[in-house]
Amino acid sequence: MTPTVAVPTLKLTDRINRIEPSATLAVVNEADKLRQQGIDVVDFGAGEPHFPTPQHIKDAAIVAIQNNFTKYTPVGGTSELRDAIVHRHAVDFDSDYRREEVVACVGGKHAIFNAIQVLVDHGDEVILPVPYWVSFKDIVRYAGGDCALVEADEGQSFRITAAMIERRLTPRTKLIILNSPSNPSGAVMSPEDMTEVVRLAHERGIWVMSDECYVYLNYTDRHFSVGSLREFRERLVIVGSLSKTYSMTGWRLGYALAPAAVASAIQKLQSQSTSNPTSIVQKAAVAALKGPQQCVADMRAEYTRLRDHVVGGLRSIPGITCTLPQGAFYAYPNVSSFLGRGAIRSASELAGKLLREAHLATVPGEGFGTSHHLRVSYATSVAELDRGLERMRKFLASL
Ligand SMILES: Cc1ncc(COP(=O)(O)O)c(C=O)c1O
Repeated sequence: MTPTVAVPTLKLTDRINRIEPSATLAVVNEADKLRQQGIDVVDFGAGEPHFPTPQHIKDAAIVAIQNNFTKYTPVGGTSELRDAIVHRHAVDFDSDYRREEVVACVGGKHAIFNAIQVLVDHGDEVILPVPYWVSFKDIVRYAGGDCALVEADEGQSFRITAAMIERRLTPRTKLIILNSPSNPSGAVMSPEDMTEVVRLAHERGIWVMSDECYVYLNYTDRHFSVGSLREFRERLVIVGSLSKTYSMTGWRLGYALAPAAVASAIQKLQSQSTSNPTSIVQKAAVAALKGPQQCVADMRAEYTRLRDHVVGGLRSIPGITCTLPQGAFYAYPNVSSFLGRGAIRSASELAGKLLREAHLATVPGEGFGTSHHLRVSYATSVAELDRGLERMRKFLASL
């Protein structure tokens, strides 16, 4: 008799077991599987711009390669890039950061990951508005922190106020996360509401991390960054990204603006993990930040048109209600009236059926902390929006 070989049980760390894979990536994977079977899937799931990266940015990367700018750089980015980040932010948002207060990272998500590892310790609480971008919760958990969720008011366009946050503060609160414009709701905080939150945090000695990944995709006429609130800067970390602003998601370039001690701690962590962002991408990023900004305005204008189109279409489907998003490129329709119909009990089940039966990819609200919504990305063409809306209309009418 052959002896049975014992398979060792895999013992992974507690910290990796505390987190889950990204819900948005799960949808992308499932839609990809259907496509590989030759099925024509309409994609409202993607979290990225549909525009190509502007030509002058691509050219700068090509020149960088040809000039052999292909070696290690300082961990937090070249001085040229750090100065360009600081300059762009100062011109656009009236901030006054210095070179030693900025770190270039491998995407905005990396900057967020680094900042949270540096600020949040075991047992600390982090205020997280709901709906939230999927990764915040898991990154906080990875650091050993606990999220204290604050439900936004859907009736007031997913508003979050300082008073709502204040009710959730405890002696353990270490950090408040803001994300305006928001993924997934598209909500934009007013400058007044943001200022009140930052003031409250400052008074209580709590950090604020403001995720400005979509700050240039703000469709209101009030473009604002907490970076302009110079008197509160010693408790502020601003995280930005070139991904959405310049349609550069695959290039991986983001940054953190923070007091020098925090920026230096982020660099220390980065020096022991990724080291510098790709040298070639840094040159492309300088071209993006210092070059003509018309491309940003053009993309913003197109997103506004797409937003109006998709929200009009969603609202015309009986049973759907949809807040008008003021930024980013997501609509967040409420689908609660369909739950309980056709054995569908949750937004996840609805999104699953929409994908498998109507071949329309959306992201269910559960990944963002709400159970009555679907996230619809409108970063696509009007023709694709129309095809997807038609599939949604037909499918929901059949329930
Ligand atoms: C709210 C928010 N923050 C940060 C990011 C990170 O973007 P990146 O890592 O591409 O800069 C995303 C990406 O979808 C996002 O939606």
